[in-house]
Amino acid sequence: MTTRTTPHPTAPLLSVDDLVVQYHRPGAPPTRAVAGGSLQVRAGEVVGLVGESGCGKSTLARAVCGLVPPAEGRIVYDGTPVRPLRVRRREPALTGIQMVFQDPYGSLNPRRRVGAQIADGIRTVAGRGEAPSDATPADLLTRVGLSEDAAEGYPQEFSGGQRQRIAIARALAARPRLLVGDEPISALDASAQLQVATLMRSLAVESGAGLLFISHDLSVVRLIADRIAVMYLGRIVETGPTAEVWADPRHPYTRALLAAVPKPDGAGVLPAELPGDVPDPADPPSGCRFHPRCPKVFDGCDREEPQLIAGGVACRLYAA
Ligand SMILES: Nc1ncnc2c1ncn2[C@@H]1O[C@H](COP(=O)(O)OP(=O)(O)O)[C@@H](O)[C@H]1O
Ligand SMILES: [Mg+2]
Repeated sequence: MTTRTTPHPTAPLLSVDDLVVQYHRPGAPPTRAVAGGSLQVRAGEVVGLVGESGCGKSTLARAVCGLVPPAEGRIVYDGTPVRPLRVRRREPALTGIQMVFQDPYGSLNPRRRVGAQIADGIRTVAGRGEAPSDATPADLLTRVGLSEDAAEGYPQEFSGGQRQRIAIARALAARPRLLVGDEPISALDASAQLQVATLMRSLAVESGAGLLFISHDLSVVRLIADRIAVMYLGRIVETGPTAEVWADPRHPYTRALLAAVPKPDGAGVLPAELPGDVPDPADPPSGCRFHPRCPKVFDGCDREEPQLIAGGVACRLYAA
C-alpha cells in the first residue's frame, strides 16, 4: 500500500494529538465523545471532517475553539496550547480561531443590529495586539455577498442563507487564521448550501487561513476540501487528500459512507448493509470500535484497537 501524499509539507497551524474529551453525567460512566483523535490543519488548507451523527465531530470542534477542556492529549494552535478558561473569555491569541455554527439564529444576537455584531469581531483584532483592522462592517458584508445596507438590519430580517453569511462576516471580522465550521450548511436550503460552503472555502483560501469544515454532506465536502478526515465514535479512522480518499477509500466505514453518496435527499445516509446506529461512546465496543458493524470484520478485530498508520487508515486489514 502506498503512503498518501502530504500536500502541504509546512508545520500545521492546528495540531490535535491524541485528544480525549469526556462528558460527565452523575451516576454514569463518562462519555468519551473524543477518544484519542488526531488531526492537523495547515494554513490555506481546507480539511473536511465527516462521520455520522454522534461520532464526536462537534466535540472535537468545541475543544479546538477552547469551549470544552481536553481530558488527555494536546491541541496546539499556532504554537499556543488551546485550553478553555474558567470565565467565558478566551485568551486573546485564540481569537484567531473563529467558529461558524449550524444555527445562525442561535449564534447571532436577535436584538442587535448586524453591523454592531460585526464591529465586535473587528475589535478583537486589536485586542490580540495586532495592528487594528481598518475593515468596516460594510466591507465585510460585501465580501460575503450581502449589501452594505444589511448592517442596519436585525438578524431575523434575513433568510437562513443570508444569516449564515452574516455569521461568516462576523467571524471574518476577527481576521481568523483558522475558521471552524460545524455543520454550517446543514440548516440551509439546498440552493444556499453549496454557495455558503464555496464562500467559506474561497474566503479561507484567499486570506491564507485554514478551514476545518464539518459536514455530513459528503458531496459538498468532496467539492471544497483539500483533505478529508473520517471520524467514527471518537476516533479518526481515515485521512488523506480528498481525491485520493474518494478514488480509493480504505476503511470499511469510509467505503460505507461514500457508497451512500449521492442520495436524492443529500448525503450521509448509511447503506443497508451497514446495520445499526453509532454505539454509545460511554460504552464503546472492544477492539476496533467499528467491528460490530463492519462488513469486513475478522478474527481479532474485537480485541485489537487499530491505530492510524502512515497510509492514513486505522484498520487491521491494512496493518503491516
Ligand atoms: N454536553 C454533552 N453532555 C453529554 N454528552 C454529550 C454532550 N454533547 C455531546 N454529547 C455526546 O457526545 C457524543 C458525541 O457528540 P457530538 O460531538 O455532538 O457528535 P457529532 O457532532 O459528531 O454528532 C454523543 O454521544 C453525544 O450524545
Ligand atoms: Mg455535531
